[in-house]
Amino acid sequence: MLSIKNLHVSIEGKKILQGINLEVTTGETHVIMGPNGSGKSTLASVIAGKKEYNVTKGNIFFMNKNLKNLSPEERAHLGIFLSFQHPVEIPGISVINFIKTAINESRKAKGMNKISAKEILIKSKEKSSLLKIEKDFFYRSLNEGFSGGEKKRNEIFQMSMLDPLLSILDEVDSGLDIDALRIVAKGINSLKNDKNSILIITHYKRMLDYLFSDYILHILYDGKIVQSGNKELAEKLEKEGYDWIKKK
Ligand SMILES: Nc1ncnc2c1ncn2[C@@H]1O[C@H](COP(=O)(O)OP(=O)(O)OP(=O)(O)O)[C@@H](O)[C@H]1O
Ligand SMILES: [Mg+2]
Repeated sequence: MLSIKNLHVSIEGKKILQGINLEVTTGETHVIMGPNGSGKSTLASVIAGKKEYNVTKGNIFFMNKNLKNLSPEERAHLGIFLSFQHPVEIPGISVINFIKTAINESRKAKGMNKISAKEILIKSKEKSSLLKIEKDFFYRSLNEGFSGGEKKRNEIFQMSMLDPLLSILDEVDSGLDIDALRIVAKGINSLKNDKNSILIITHYKRMLDYLFSDYILHILYDGKIVQSGNKELAEKLEKEGYDWIKKK
C-alpha cells in the first residue's frame, strides 16, 4: 500500500529525514516511536503532502502511484488520512459540515454522487455513539474551543466517517484522560480491517497495548529508522528509553 524509498527531507536547509525506507502492506499496523525532534511528525506531514517540507531525494508510492506531484487534497482522495498532533481551528465551519465537504470532495474525485443528508446522519450517529460524542458537538465550529481530548476524539470521528485506506495518527493519545484513551482506542480498533492500514506515532506503549495485539514497530532516530521490530522492542524502549541507541 505505502512504499517509501530512500526519503530525504529538509526544511529551511536543515536536514530532517535522512534516507527513510518503509513498506506498509494492506492490513498491517505500523508504529513509529522516537525521541522528540527525531522527525516523526515530519514524516507524517510529508506523506500527507504538506508543502513546507522539501523532499530532496527519494520517493513515496501509495497504491503504486508516485505521490511526488500530488497535492494534499489529491492524496486524501486516494485514501490517505492524517490526524495532526496539533489540529487547526476553523471558526465558522461546523464539525459536521467539514466532514460532509471532505466526504463529498473525495466522492467527486471518484466520480460518485454526493452523500445524502440522510446517509450522513445515519453514519454520523453510528460513529459518534461509538466514540461517545454528544450530538451538539457536530454543530460547533471545528476545533474552536475544543479541549485537547475533544480535538483528538473529533479527529478519530472524522477518520471513521471518511473510511481511509491509510490512517496516519500522530500522537492521538497525547493529553487524553484514561477513559478517553480507551474510547479513542476502541474507535481506532473498530476501523481496522484487512483492507486498510494504520501508521501510528506515539510515545507510549500504553496506547499500543489498548489497541493492537500485533504491530510492526520502527524506531526513528535522527531522521533515520535505526531499528524495526515488534512488541518486544516496544517493551525494551519502555524500560531503557533511547540512550542505548546512541551507544550503538
Ligand atoms: N516548519 C518547521 N520549521 C523549522 N524546523 C522544523 C519545522 N518542522 C520541523 N522542524 C524541525 O525538524 C525536526 C523534527 O521535527 P518533528 O516535528 O518531525 O519531530 P517529532 O519526531 O515529531 O518530535 P515530537 O516527538 O516532539 O513530536 C525538529 O528539530 C524540528 O524543530
Ligand atoms: Mg511530532
